[in-house]
Amino acid sequence: MKITDALRGEHAVLYVIFDFVRDTISNSEDITIIKNSVSVLERTLLSHAEIEDNFLFPELDPHIAGMGPLEMMRTEHQSIDEILKSYRDENDVDALKALIRQLIDLAFGHFQKEEMALFAMAEQFLTDDELTALGDKWAEKRNVVVDGHSCISAA
Ligand SMILES: [Fe+2]
Ligand SMILES: [Fe+2]
Repeated sequence: MKITDALRGEHAVLYVIFDFVRDTISNSEDITIIKNSVSVLERTLLSHAEIEDNFLFPELDPHIAGMGPLEMMRTEHQSIDEILKSYRDENDVDALKALIRQLIDLAFGHFQKEEMALFAMAEQFLTDDELTALGDKWAEKRNVVVDGHSCISAA
């Protein structure tokens, strides 16, 4: 499987988590419940961005380094990181909800840009073999079986 397809699949799961967190902040005024819901998003989102930063983006550098889309995606990863570092310290429920809405809007827009531009560029500049080799690295990292091959690591 190509890494771009794997990452699209991760986006699909993250969209469900976005909805879960949106529902939580609509239905609760409890700061602990709200922060706990964001912690699930935090762990999943950071893990997803780490795979893009470590596996996909470096392979794109020789082709589109310095071009807008790749730099924009890296900058948005940093912006998402900064919000995720700050939300735990926010103890005003309305300010917390505003921060979380900002986070989800940013992450949603970021995903749309990746799906509509960056992944398409990856599929244009990298060969199918390169994309599949990266998909194998993704499968090993995620401990899933792809194309009938077990990539489960011994660790
Ligand atoms: Fe990303
Ligand atoms: Fe992504």
